[in-house]
Amino acid sequence: MKTLIKNGRIVTAVDDYLADILIEDETIAMIGKKLDMQADKIIDAKDRLVIPGGIDAHTHLDMPFGGTTSADDFRTGTLAAAHGGTTTIIDFAIQNKGQSIIEALDIWHEKAAGKTAIDYGFHMIVTDLPHERLKEVKRMIHDEGVTSFKMFMAYPGVLLVDDATIFRGMSFAGEHGGLICMHAENGVVINEIVQRALAEGRTAPKFHALTRPTKAEAEGVNRAIALAEMANTAVYIVHLSCYDALKKVKEARDEGIPAFAETCPQYLFLDYSAYESEDFEGAKYVMTPPLREKWNQEELWTGLRMNDLQVISTDHCPFCMKEQKELGRNDFSKIPNGGPGVETRMSLIYNGGVVAGRIDVNRFVEITSTAPAKIFGLFPRKGTIAVGSDADIVIFNPNKKMTLSAKTLHMNVDYNCYEGMQVQGVTETVLSRGKVVIENEKYVGKPGDGKFLKRSTVQLKHREPASAVR
Ligand code: URP
Ligand code: ZN
Ligand code: ZN
Repeated sequence: MKTLIKNGRIVTAVDDYLADILIEDETIAMIGKKLDMQADKIIDAKDRLVIPGGIDAHTHLDMPFGGTTSADDFRTGTLAAAHGGTTTIIDFAIQNKGQSIIEALDIWHEKAAGKTAIDYGFHMIVTDLPHERLKEVKRMIHDEGVTSFKMFMAYPGVLLVDDATIFRGMSFAGEHGGLICMHAENGVVINEIVQRALAEGRTAPKFHALTRPTKAEAEGVNRAIALAEMANTAVYIVHLSCYDALKKVKEARDEGIPAFAETCPQYLFLDYSAYESEDFEGAKYVMTPPLREKWNQEELWTGLRMNDLQVISTDHCPFCMKEQKELGRNDFSKIPNGGPGVETRMSLIYNGGVVAGRIDVNRFVEITSTAPAKIFGLFPRKGTIAVGSDADIVIFNPNKKMTLSAKTLHMNVDYNCYEGMQVQGVTETVLSRGKVVIENEKYVGKPGDGKFLKRSTVQLKHREPASAVR
């Protein structure tokens, strides 16, 4: 099968030029001016950006959490991702305490197999890592293609692991080419503050945010980086939300320490005021870390520009207001933590980043696709447009506008955090390994088009993978 994409403006993390692309079966076979060979399908990309498919390195599909299960499964979540211009997700499998990591991975494979619209990989959330389990980590990295592991400093009694476990995991994973992704918040102190608030009758959603100070996140980031330094390895901070935490990453990077971090659209576009309504609406935004005071947003954009933040992921973890968020109506600590986002990431970042003049179009591609591909062992198969790479390609209309709404988006959740917001920049057509899965904004694929990706090991060095400090 041959597909020609003609007349497009190809944008990668480093290039921006007009050319045509020939796809043969699943890969990019040729890039050049005025390609005119026979093809089974021709796509006219005039006045469109032709960009590498987005990579969302942080999703939680079909995940049991907070007494319920995230509302998108691997079918609906990846279909929504495709609509939004994302062609790869890396989702989090969870090892329960006492469970074999291999068994946990098998469960997540079962959840996803045959259902996805796009390719997917797994990180493994590790909740229990005695010495005798380390061989399972080795097997994950070398045989199963799961090369990154999330550890939690938060959620005591559920997901939190102690510093000894974190240090053990970092040392061992680092030695074998794996990477620890850290949920960096001092969960033990937060728990103390939460219990105090509840005892004083403070039960509304806003107290979720008021009981999770930015200093608790900064302390977690600082500790994670120190532990990684002692373990002589890199660390990746997930869902970084505020300036206090960013400062710790920046200080480390300025010293040459291989600390990496992602932020998410919610921390760039939403703020603490979302919690303030007197009714239960604030529950929509109960996520961890919480939304911060608005002034943090421009600091995060500066972090993205200066490469102190390398990646935009979503932390997509949706729960419906009806029945799910409702579990915490009388107690904010029982509201399932998380929000939807996998479908809106690319348009939000294009609009708030490129259209608003905060980042250029190359940096947009880099933080939404190329950098996560490089950090998580998918590059150059994913994350760029180059001969030999998978033909994961998004035809993106940079001028078209749309209004975000739960009614028209495809995520399986009954609200959207950005309801009514107008954005410029719309995903029109999406190819996943050469197959058109979204055509003129309509899904034309089928569940099972996506395949599991075994990821490679990566030796992360300071300042990689970004091309330059801007
Ligand atoms: O609120 C969030 N972030 N829910 C998902 C779990 C996590 O900590 O990433
Ligand atoms: Zn987390
Ligand atoms: Zn998460």
